[in-house]
Amino acid sequence: MTESSFPAWLAAQAAQREQLGLTRRLAESDRGEPLLDLAGNDYLGLARDARVVAGAVAAARAYGAGATASRLVSGTLSIHTELEQAMAAFTGFASALVFSSGYHANLSVIQALADRDTLIISDAHIHASVIDACRLARGTVTVTPHNDVAAVERAVAGRTQRRALVLIETIYSVLGDAAPVAALAELAAAHDAVLVADEAHALGVAGPGGRGLLAAHGLTRRPDVIATATLSKSLGAQGGLVLGLPAVREHLVNRARPFIYDTGLAPAAAGSALAALRVIIAAPELAGRVRAHAAVLAGACGAGPPAGAVLSVPMPGPREALAAVAAAAGHGLRIGCFRPPSTPDGISRLRLTAHAHHTGEELALAVKVLRHIAVTDRR
Ligand SMILES: Cc1ncc(COP(=O)(O)O)c(C=O)c1O
Repeated sequence: MTESSFPAWLAAQAAQREQLGLTRRLAESDRGEPLLDLAGNDYLGLARDARVVAGAVAAARAYGAGATASRLVSGTLSIHTELEQAMAAFTGFASALVFSSGYHANLSVIQALADRDTLIISDAHIHASVIDACRLARGTVTVTPHNDVAAVERAVAGRTQRRALVLIETIYSVLGDAAPVAALAELAAAHDAVLVADEAHALGVAGPGGRGLLAAHGLTRRPDVIATATLSKSLGAQGGLVLGLPAVREHLVNRARPFIYDTGLAPAAAGSALAALRVIIAAPELAGRVRAHAAVLAGACGAGPPAGAVLSVPMPGPREALAAVAAAAGHGLRIGCFRPPSTPDGISRLRLTAHAHHTGEELALAVKVLRHIAVTDRR
């Protein structure tokens, strides 16, 4: 068996990954010593909130365990419509469409809006789901440096294609910084382009009462601004969302392959997302609290000022990043790290997330450990 035959080449690649310190491993987070979570995206602590879990149970009882078919066949349930209307009303958009994941939401909107005569302008630090969406779409893709408004302007103004999409995250999932949304929305409007903004890490965390960064900038009623989001982070549930004009919703229902050929969102996920939304509406202070906690953690680990819940700490290399994660675990904290190939610039980073429900005591522990790690593991 040569190294190029199957499965020998798998072993060869695994050995190479191991040598470079880039092996990814699955670990069951519900086993072993409980750690204080500074890695997950349950920013408001709603995934285990009794009201949210009850929403999942009630929906499963009422509608069943699964949606049983594509939304276009028999998989559209009244709880989907209720969730869509509630999410549109909360965020300030005219309409919403829910998906089985945020990944599918991104795949759908970009595939359905880009044809061969479309220039797709994508930020260098965009999420993998958007990168995959660009691969699925038929347009021409150009990648601009991170948050570089002038580069986006050059691309959109100099295009030969009839249409253009500008793809951003409003708060970046790994870097944790905010996009210049107002300037990019102006640019899109001036050049007959559409801004597609992923609010995955802004929903529930940024904007008034957690309505997102687009709401904060009064951009939710612009015909050329479309938002995508996930129900799996601040809402603590599962599923995805596209927000925009009713005409956008209708286009996606008719043209988005990852929507059409996918089973509808599971009732329990829809029920828990609805229950979580009710909690967020009743407690508008949660968004401010998570941002305040993020500022405290940023001070402790030397991260820049966070725009939302995500903190990013560059490390010398992947091994140092892994060592910091292990050291934090040894002191009771779960932190995350991103290493190549998940980082477009090849820099390994610790990724930490703040949570609204952490107590003063938990925050104090986090600060103490992060200070220690910042001094010992980043040299
Ligand atoms: C920016 C961004 N967009 C989309 C997604 C995908 O969302 P989901 O987990 O609901 O598929 C994620 C999740 O990791 C994300 O960080």
